[in-house]
Amino acid sequence: MILIKLGGSIITNKEKPLSPRKKTIENIVKYLKKIDEPLAIVHGGGSFGHYWSVKYDMHTKPMKYNTHGVSIVKNSMIELNKIILDIFLKNKLNPYCLPPTDFMSGDKPITNKIKEIEKIANAGLIPITFGDALWYGHKKTYILSGDKIMTHLSKILKPRLCIFALNEDGLYSDLKSKKLIHELKGENPIISKNNMDVTGGMTRKVEEATNISKMGMDVFFVNGNKPERIVKAIKNRKFEGTVFRGKRNG
Ligand code: IPE
Repeated sequence: MILIKLGGSIITNKEKPLSPRKKTIENIVKYLKKIDEPLAIVHGGGSFGHYWSVKYDMHTKPMKYNTHGVSIVKNSMIELNKIILDIFLKNKLNPYCLPPTDFMSGDKPITNKIKEIEKIANAGLIPITFGDALWYGHKKTYILSGDKIMTHLSKILKPRLCIFALNEDGLYSDLKSKKLIHELKGENPIISKNNMDVTGGMTRKVEEATNISKMGMDVFFVNGNKPERIVKAIKNRKFEGTVFRGKRNG
């Protein structure tokens, strides 16, 4: 099974609130059709959920956030999710909408529910889930990022490969020159002002990618604007992007 995260920056125009990049999503979906392994998709919030979570000052730490903000974030994620589901359907792929409330209880993943995702994918449906505002308990809520979902799912499903589709070519060692890091073998990449976007969005991705590779799986960062690279990564062809090489035992 292959796990793919479609980052908010690739599926939406982050500069403009509530603006999906439908052409880009459609282009990615067309390439996903060429993959003959079971797939599961996670998507981010971008100028939908992410935008509102910033407006309402909501974070990944469970707290008593503004309840209206929680509703707005959730609503906007459903809206973005629907756009993505429609594009999958229109291109004759069979998406299976799976909000994270289906497999999370508070901040804990529900193992049995996550195991079901593999069965759904093996049956030829494509489970599609997303980062969201979630109930934590004791009047608290929190933002569960799509990146964190990638770690939760990987831990239980052990996909053959994890792919993060980004709006960049991969992880750069230097932002100015856009010098690409091709491969990381278990080491933690140095994250500094030089290779980090201002919002710190990349920090979280790198953190989760490192976690997943330490569990033994390969994680690829690829440019979602060049979706043929996603297919190449999966088909073991010449790869363009950053690989976090997983340490397999034996
Ligand atoms: C979005 O998930 C979570 C919300 C703010 C609702 P991500 O944090 O994974 O989104 P992107 O990919 O960075 O936009």
